[in-house]
Amino acid sequence: MIQVVRGTKDILPSETGAWQSLEATFRRIASQFGFQELRTPLFEHTELFSRGIGEMTDIVGKEMYTFLDQGQTSITLRPEATASIVRAVIENTLIEKNPLLRLWYMGAMFRQERPQKGRLRQFHQFDAEILGSAQPEADAESIVLASTILRAIGLSAFELRLNSLGNAASRLRYREALQEYFRPHIGGMSEDSKGRLEKNPLRILDSKHPEDKPFLGDAPVLFDYLDDESRNYFERVQKLLTALEIPYIADYRLVRGLDYYCHTAFEFVTTRLGSQNAIGGGGRYDGLFEQIGGKPTPGIGFAFGIERLLLLLEEEGKTPTSDTQCDLYVIALDDDSSAVGMKLAQNLRLKGLVVVTDALRRSFKAQMRDADRMKARFVAIIGENERLQGKVIIKTMASGEQREMALEDYESLQYALNT
Ligand code: HAM
Repeated sequence: MIQVVRGTKDILPSETGAWQSLEATFRRIASQFGFQELRTPLFEHTELFSRGIGEMTDIVGKEMYTFLDQGQTSITLRPEATASIVRAVIENTLIEKNPLLRLWYMGAMFRQERPQKGRLRQFHQFDAEILGSAQPEADAESIVLASTILRAIGLSAFELRLNSLGNAASRLRYREALQEYFRPHIGGMSEDSKGRLEKNPLRILDSKHPEDKPFLGDAPVLFDYLDDESRNYFERVQKLLTALEIPYIADYRLVRGLDYYCHTAFEFVTTRLGSQNAIGGGGRYDGLFEQIGGKPTPGIGFAFGIERLLLLLEEEGKTPTSDTQCDLYVIALDDDSSAVGMKLAQNLRLKGLVVVTDALRRSFKAQMRDADRMKARFVAIIGENERLQGKVIIKTMASGEQREMALEDYESLQYALNT
């Protein structure tokens, strides 16, 4: 028996209702904020992610699905959406046509992490980006959009953690401070951290190696190295969030696992999902366009992990449903009636009703049971008698009441089934 690949999942019919409901909420709220959908390919040139996300990150260093295609081109299944969106915006000169872009995207992402609850190798994100604005209003709008979505789907067991990673000059000063702090300890630290010390010491802070843990707690904190410009920017973002009544917790130790961030960084976290506590995260990435080869353009955005949102909704007993109501179940009692029943069903579907027929040729009793299981509002019964008289029996499931109606009077049938 061939099984699903480790870290991937089938989303079963009993689960897709909840997915569709979340997806509909994302779409609805994103368009209320003036966002438009942009769809990018599932795979890209490897270089897009290694340059965009950063060579020394766990994502690029350990987690990407990278392979050579038949033409020996190095291809990577996208581990996230932001780099692809920025590439698409540059390539299609979208920012030249509109100086402020609001874009969203939803789909599968791939990271070869160790699978556990809430951590998959193929997972799904809802992602929203605001491109072109270096103003704190964009940061606030991004966070308000994220909070509005979480509220709309009914989640309450989460908090927003907010930090500033400052401008490039501040991060440079911090980088030196980190190197100075780690240098005396580096001999006893992991190989990963040794490699990161000179190239990208910030990434040492992401380390999950037990031998690194004792040194992480006392490491200098980036916030203490922010210059005036960075602090002012952060204050303006915080003022807007306060005015908009968005509760948050300032968390000066929050670092994100991707290199492209500057200034605002944030994460929505929950205590209900064990170690996979981030249901979403994002931040500002003013240098990313240049990294990828575009003109300097500021940007800010975030992504939610859809599986984690669904797990948390389940924890809170709030899993959404979007079951389609079955209006009519058509029961045919013999060979010839089966064709008549299928024709009736099709004509009523064309009038917008949800109509199912039995494709197993089951007994009357079994078809009635199936109609019950599907919670059909009405059942149509056609046997030889009805067929010969051009009639159909319509039974109201809630009351058990039955009436005979004309088989081909679709207008009257539609009216009866809609009331
Ligand atoms: P990220 O923090 O790497 O950010 O991922 C965002 C969210 O995706 C996480 O908070 C988590 O809910 C979910 N996620 C990540 N990895 C997994 C996994 N292996 N299994 C299940 N869920 C996962 C980004 O991807 C950035 N592109 C966000 C962003 C957009 N920043 C600016 N714009």
